[in-house]
Amino acid sequence: MIIVIDGPAGSGKSSTAKELANRLNLKFLDSGALYRALTYKWLEAGKPEKQLFFKNLPSVNLKASSDGDQFSVEIGGEDVTGFIRTGRVSEHVSEIATAKQARSYVNSVMRDMVKHDTFIADGRDLGTAVFPDADLKFYMDASIEERASRRFEEMKSKQNDVSYSEVLENVKMRDHTDQNRKADPLRKAEDAIRIDTTGKTFEEQVDEMSAIIKSKLTI
Ligand code: DC
Repeated sequence: MIIVIDGPAGSGKSSTAKELANRLNLKFLDSGALYRALTYKWLEAGKPEKQLFFKNLPSVNLKASSDGDQFSVEIGGEDVTGFIRTGRVSEHVSEIATAKQARSYVNSVMRDMVKHDTFIADGRDLGTAVFPDADLKFYMDASIEERASRRFEEMKSKQNDVSYSEVLENVKMRDHTDQNRKADPLRKAEDAIRIDTTGKTFEEQVDEMSAIIKSKLTI
């Protein structure tokens, strides 16, 4: 069984999906982590020519595993989870995630993974392209100012020296890339339930989604 949450950067998808995995005893699938892992591999390999890198994707041997809300990614047998959230990977990830070949490879890894368990997954195109028959689909959103301000607070708490206006610009840019790319752009699936988290606390949004899941699925 698969529950998906799509939405723009900073809408709270990933922390919400993790909390729901904990509360409802589901496994968590972080699709962005898979694109990040491929990007890490491409950077580590010295940025080889993209078509060549894509042609050899199966030999990259990308594997993911999930233990409750913990999601780990391996490349060629090496756990790379600790290396995929650096600024360098974030800076380059859209170059990889916008390519059709990378998307189809990552999609096949995800589809294999969810065959034998109940998962809650977060991403951009899960309800539209990867799991069009998902058991339940959510689309999380919040105003751009609120998403930027959440990201800003998070970065400040990690002592990143960045201004609110820089973060706002970055969120705008990511929205533009996610919504306008050719391969599987971010959009709400027609049958996804929209959750607008503007002005809601984390507790409130998780309670709301947990109640919907319990009312619609037997898990
Ligand atoms: O959610 P994140 O920041 O970890 O995602 C990393 C990148 O991967 C970001 O550029 C969006 C992209 N992504 C995607 O294209 N499709 C998904 N299903 C998940 C993430």
